[in-house]
Amino acid sequence: MGIYLVFIIGAVIVSRSQGHAVDYLKFPDDLLLGAASSSYQVEGAWNEDGKGENIWDRMTHANPEKIDDRSTGDIACDAYHKTKEDIALMKDLGLQFYRFSISWSRILPTGFPNKINQAGIDYYNDLINQLLANNIIPMVTVYHWDLPQPLQDLGGFANPEIINWLKDYAKVVFDHFGDRVKTWITINEPKQICEFGYGTGMFAPGLQAGGIGNYLCTHNLLKAHAHIYHMYDKIYRRNQKGHIGITAECSWSEPATNATQDIEAAERRRQFDFGMYMNPIFHKNGDYPAVVKQFVAKRSKEEGFPRSRLPEFTQQEINFIKGTSDFFGLNHYTTVLVKDKKADPIGDPSQDKDTRVETFQDPNWLTGSFSYFRSVPWGLRKALNYIKHNYGNPEILITENGFPDAESFNDQGRIRYYKDNLKAVLDAIYTDHVRITVYTAWSLMDNFEWSSGYTVRFGLYHVDFNDTNRPRTPKESVKFYKNLIKTRRLNTEDPKLP
Ligand code: BGC
Repeated sequence: MGIYLVFIIGAVIVSRSQGHAVDYLKFPDDLLLGAASSSYQVEGAWNEDGKGENIWDRMTHANPEKIDDRSTGDIACDAYHKTKEDIALMKDLGLQFYRFSISWSRILPTGFPNKINQAGIDYYNDLINQLLANNIIPMVTVYHWDLPQPLQDLGGFANPEIINWLKDYAKVVFDHFGDRVKTWITINEPKQICEFGYGTGMFAPGLQAGGIGNYLCTHNLLKAHAHIYHMYDKIYRRNQKGHIGITAECSWSEPATNATQDIEAAERRRQFDFGMYMNPIFHKNGDYPAVVKQFVAKRSKEEGFPRSRLPEFTQQEINFIKGTSDFFGLNHYTTVLVKDKKADPIGDPSQDKDTRVETFQDPNWLTGSFSYFRSVPWGLRKALNYIKHNYGNPEILITENGFPDAESFNDQGRIRYYKDNLKAVLDAIYTDHVRITVYTAWSLMDNFEWSSGYTVRFGLYHVDFNDTNRPRTPKESVKFYKNLIKTRRLNTEDPKLP
């Protein structure tokens, strides 16, 4: 208790320059606190009211072996039928905003804008209106991984036409919802879409075209994002007065030793992990990072390809993509330790082989039900500082942060994760002067966790997937987050770990 008191007093320090006390555990007034979800993970109603098939519908139905528990998002949390109930949960939590995504095939069943599904438009209108009526800001992701299947049949992100398809879809979204939605995220996590969808094949559409499909996807995705940004900027911004940007998942890569080759390897992994997607948008020179271009080109040559497997941007494209985000959307979960690795023998190409690093984690770092997601708060702080220093000190929206604790209502591991990671956020704000304006807990409730199905739970609320009613029950972390939002202060007292 004594130590705790000293800690609290120590945290309230008189700021001489401003002449008043600064409470370093208090969240700044302009930092918004909220929670997130995504359409396929929560909505269900996969074929109701005119919705078309998307790539996750197809993959979970055609290849159930790709999902750990062979489950689907057919019903998921049944959020499509529970808008009122879920908003009551958000209201009770005190969320300032709710981040959700729009299901492309729910509003455009074939993927194309010649046929708009009014029932889909009505669903999102109702969600947005009910949020606003309850003083909860809607923060909307245009694309969170659920591509309409007819567009996948034409190549999906490997076809440069995706630029027009995404732009046309985004136009429908802005036309219908932009009068009330003021924060837009164009695309959630390019790496997961491209590397896991077109490289390793772990995610839908499940293509295993490593070292080729993933880069083609990246190239088209970045151009599509830039087109959407410019369209919003030219046509909508003036009247709708919103802001728009992109979100990437940035795990932190820490060198495993002080050896120069490991320090370089860690930086190389950062560049392949998120620099490849964010450099073209945020770096003052634009384009892919030099080390990515160099490593892919060298390996492509050794493999006998006539040119680099990484497509090149023209100078015009570089200029067009540069600067196309009003903020840096950051999803962060964990950290890895990185060592340099010898080149793999020549064989099938892959992004992993191009990166040429070995990664591992410290087994002492706190983990829950999925060992990869370990709590490493100093990694989050380093990631925030890296973004500040390498991308021109952008405004950062933390659009996801969370922990997959074991299934229990007493989720002390999750509370520990949030406390430690939120402390890192506060340190980044007050000590490092990183410009963070949004913090988003992933996730509001347990949901369909992609290839892990329902075996991994990230929710503040527990969902019983065996009950057709999908009842939601608050976990202990709801009490924690609710109190944090209410007091706008972090209580750092240790929770009793189970
Ligand atoms: C995604 C979420 C996902 C979460 C946990 C993020 O990569 O945006 O959809 O559930 O991580 O894996």
